[in-house]
Amino acid sequence: MNILVTGGCGFIGSNFVRLLLESDRSFRLVNLDKLTYAGNLGNLADLSGDPRYRFVKGDICDREVVDRIIAEESIDRIVHFAAESHVDRSIDGPAEFVRTNVVGTFTLLEAARSAWLGGGKDAGERRFLHVSTDEVYGSLGETGYFTETTPYDPRSPYSASKASSDHLVSAYCHTYALPVLITNCSNNYGPHHFPEKLIPLIILNALKGQELPVYGDGSNVRDWLYVADHCRAILTVLERGVVGETYNIGGNSEKRNLEVVETVCDILDEVAPPLSGNAPRRSLIRFVKDRPGHDQRYAIDAGKIRNDLGWTPEVTFEEGIRRTIDWYLANPEWSAAILSGSYQDYYSSMYSERLQERGGESAAPAG
Ligand code: NAD
Ligand code: DAU
Repeated sequence: MNILVTGGCGFIGSNFVRLLLESDRSFRLVNLDKLTYAGNLGNLADLSGDPRYRFVKGDICDREVVDRIIAEESIDRIVHFAAESHVDRSIDGPAEFVRTNVVGTFTLLEAARSAWLGGGKDAGERRFLHVSTDEVYGSLGETGYFTETTPYDPRSPYSASKASSDHLVSAYCHTYALPVLITNCSNNYGPHHFPEKLIPLIILNALKGQELPVYGDGSNVRDWLYVADHCRAILTVLERGVVGETYNIGGNSEKRNLEVVETVCDILDEVAPPLSGNAPRRSLIRFVKDRPGHDQRYAIDAGKIRNDLGWTPEVTFEEGIRRTIDWYLANPEWSAAILSGSYQDYYSSMYSERLQERGGESAAPAG
């Protein structure tokens, strides 16, 4: 396999590249990443000497660069992670989400169509795997699960841009017979997760004794999956998935946000140096102004990938959250490099007002 991974310096992409490079599979892997604020070469620094691996700094919207890589490296697999991925940023500035997530995916599809099918060629064993999200399905009430046939109902600029990209990918399969696969996954967590997202933000704030912002009343539910399990699922779909099919991927691990935050607090109280005055970290929890249009509940029915391809998650939330906390404790330089940069501006613009408005209002007991 000659694989083009897009967005391989981000959270999930870098965990996927690591999974491949640590396996004994024979392949060539090119990682195309623009290195936005979310892309971090340090995520793969220890693996950069591997002769199977090449990094290219570039934009998926740049057709020339994409064409050049596909031709130079005889690319026969594309695993497409690159995206703007944070819902809150999409609410503040949707344009970049449309550019990267929609136009970028379109550019990759066109490049693959031209290289793999141009002049009446047969795509053969080539595959285009598009990594997407469960957020395209909208929001659930207290019961029910997203299946592969749940109608799309995206509700944020982020999920709308991902839904658009999913539709384009499907259309290229139906119209041109481009051999595509789509995965729609629930919330990931684990090492190298950028601290704009709930779990790493809470871990790093709680370590420093800073306030822990919980949107609304903390009752929103997410289905958490350890990132290594997601990466194994993607590899399974790449190697054994049926062309044209969509596979939902989830952790079967629904948690309310408040429960997640409290779990992180309790584990840190156990394994990290105590806060001054031995205050329990739960005392740092602050309920703040809600995210506009905040989806209430996501939950995945992962029956299809389990039954058809034999994939199931291996890491429970209880195990995965401890591993994740251990990783952040063991890698303070990784977080320090992020926290000392433009992240400070992001954090102030996102949280200063929220925390001031609700300042001092601390968490109700768990319930
Ligand atoms: P991330 O934000 O951590 O990483 C995105 C990566 O893409 C970064 O390395 C960034 O530099 C790169 N990138 C952004 N724009 C680019 C461009 N125009 N050209 C080239 N590279 C570009 O994202 P993530 O959390 O790792 O998510 C990866 C993919 O998985 C996304 O498509 C996301 O929608 C999807 N997904 C994420 C989750 C989750 O919980 N994080 C769950 C399901 C699906
Ligand atoms: O479901 C898959 C999606 O999961 C992915 O497609 C997205 O790329 C990924 O970012 C994630 O989206 P969420 O919006 O669910 O993740 P986030 O970590 O931003 O928020 C998780 C929940 O926590 C959500 O209900 C909002 C809440 N939250 C988040 C932050 C950052 C807070 O209460 N406080 C916070 O400070």
